Amino acid sequence: MTIPADQLTQDMISAEISRIHAEHVQSSRAAGSPGPVHPPRDFSAYRSTLLRHPTHELVRADPEGIELASPAFGHTDVAVEESDLTIQHSGEPLGERIIVTGRVLDGDGRPVRNQLVEIWQANGSGRYVHKRDQHPAPLDPNFTGVGRLITGDDGSYRLTTIKPGAYPWKNHRNAWRPAHIHFSFFGSAFTQRLITQMYFPGDPLFGLDPIYQSIVDPAARERLVACYDHEVSEPEWAIGYRWDVVLTGPRSTWMEPEDADHA
Ligand SMILES: [Fe+2]
Repeated sequence: MTIPADQLTQDMISAEISRIHAEHVQSSRAAGSPGPVHPPRDFSAYRSTLLRHPTHELVRADPEGIELASPAFGHTDVAVEESDLTIQHSGEPLGERIIVTGRVLDGDGRPVRNQLVEIWQANGSGRYVHKRDQHPAPLDPNFTGVGRLITGDDGSYRLTTIKPGAYPWKNHRNAWRPAHIHFSFFGSAFTQRLITQMYFPGDPLFGLDPIYQSIVDPAARERLVACYDHEVSEPEWAIGYRWDVVLTGPRSTWMEPEDADHA
């Protein structure tokens, strides 16, 4: 019998996470390898994955054919100001102003230049501007929570934004997401688009979050956590974080499966 989400306690979810991790360690040892970077698509503690993970072989899309009908960059070029989420309205958004910077690299450490990077996030109170987010935290009239940019020749990117708050998400009773920023890397074609989440160091919710914990390799989980970088912080202005992203290879940054709902 399936237990309703509002009766599932954090202890039950944490026990489920521990069980899956133990099974993973056991199967990795048996196979003599550290196991895959990417999580199982049906990670039961992250409950909605059970209903929406693929149960059939994936459909192979013709990358050229799909380009004829899929989204493109939009109607305008990407403006430099779009990488600053604090200047999109007439006033200053509330919260802790931060700078997030880093490099997008391939598996051999080469910069991935001219890459469209899109981000979206909750405001400083943990609220999204989205009709499905109705939890009682305030919207900020000066913060929409979306931005985009193009990586430089060295693969670098730089964002100015507000540190997002944690928010509840109904996976189970008293379920809270650690603060995070969603990142999309477009690639050179729509079929290459990769999506992931960046977290902040030392978040007390890491151990409890089934999305973060769905990555069973601890090293792969840690690669999603930005570092505080005092060289990036600006005096009297903003706190700085550094986060590098590796798109391919054994040290790659975890990316969401294509059917995820991006909680
Ligand atoms: Fe989110």
